[in-house]
Amino acid sequence: MSAPITIAQGPQYSRILGVGSERGNRIVDNAEMCTWIESSDEWIQQRTGIVERRWVDESQTALSMALNAARRAMDSAGLRPGDVDAIIVSTVSVFRQFPSLAVEIASELGLDHPAAFDISAACAGFCYGVGMADSMVRAGTAHNVLVVGVEVLSEQTDLTDRSTAFLFADGAGAVVVGPSQTPGIGPTVWGSDGDQAGVIWTENWRDAMESGIDPVIHMEGNKVFRWAATHIANKAQEALEVAGLTADQLDAFIPHQANNRITDSMLRRMKLPESVVVSRDIHLMGNASAASVPIAMDALLASGDAKSGDNALIIGFGAGLVFAGQVVVLP
Ligand SMILES: CC(C)(COP(=O)(O)OP(=O)(O)OC[C@H]1O[C@@H](n2cnc3c(N)ncnc32)[C@H](O)[C@@H]1OP(=O)(O)O)[C@@H](O)C(=O)NCCC(=O)NCCS
Repeated sequence: MSAPITIAQGPQYSRILGVGSERGNRIVDNAEMCTWIESSDEWIQQRTGIVERRWVDESQTALSMALNAARRAMDSAGLRPGDVDAIIVSTVSVFRQFPSLAVEIASELGLDHPAAFDISAACAGFCYGVGMADSMVRAGTAHNVLVVGVEVLSEQTDLTDRSTAFLFADGAGAVVVGPSQTPGIGPTVWGSDGDQAGVIWTENWRDAMESGIDPVIHMEGNKVFRWAATHIANKAQEALEVAGLTADQLDAFIPHQANNRITDSMLRRMKLPESVVVSRDIHLMGNASAASVPIAMDALLASGDAKSGDNALIIGFGAGLVFAGQVVVLP
């Protein structure tokens, strides 16, 4: 019989200790968007809720926005760089296979040689990261995990495609997940449907290089809409139930800011009471994929509409198709 190995063991609970974000500085309103595509402010607002979107200006990159969001999250958690021992970065906006953006962010922040890796789960990536960070902390493989969602989707937007161009945005959001005395992150409900990989996609980089084209986002909007309004609403309901909460015990709902009409459909299907504060950050932001949920969370707290200690249901969904959601106690 071999000697038994020692296994890691973490605290019973984890929670989000702090949140931070940065938006693209450049405001692109619907009038400017309509200089590129045949559309109207009225149509875009009515179909999506978007009034204006935020894109990077010349001073910003995925790295610079991620660094600012991460520093703000660590500050709000009251942690120094040396306290963070793992970093998970969700992005679909870095055009290289390696090294990861996570190691670059860790080095620039002065973290002390943390576990560092990128994940690819598109608009669900931030909630995938929160689920993984929760498991890592409670399993004892990390103490404080920085989870970053960062995107520069304006670089992958086809400004001649009137079915997608008005949707996407640039920004970064980050949280630190660490130990807690009380439950702070409910079970993660997550999954994928690879049969629908062709519903939102970009060109393979190698094919694009050989053909001399830039990879851009392609989407069958109707299919995404139907899937989100039905299947994802059911999964959001499931995340609430496995956290042991009823709808009236929820304080805030922060879905991926994909589209206001998707949020409305989810609300109707889930029958959330009016007392639940609902994030509508998409109005002035657009859809920033993996960055959208933490940016919306930061904004809801900054506005005072939600407060520290509130129960919030967060859920991300998008290209893959993939989804992940959980109830969290707001930092
Ligand atoms: C993208 C989206 C807003 C398009 O709305 P839609 O109602 O599905 O649009 P359709 O493609 O069915 O087109 C409906 C009509 O609007 C027109 N239209 C399409 N794009 C338009 C635009 N940008 N401006 C004005 N009219 C437009 C079409 O020509 C069509 O006109 P018709 O009825 O005269 O033929 C909608 O499908 C959607 O929100 N999908 C979810 C996308 C999403 O959230 N993706 C991110 C997930 S991570």
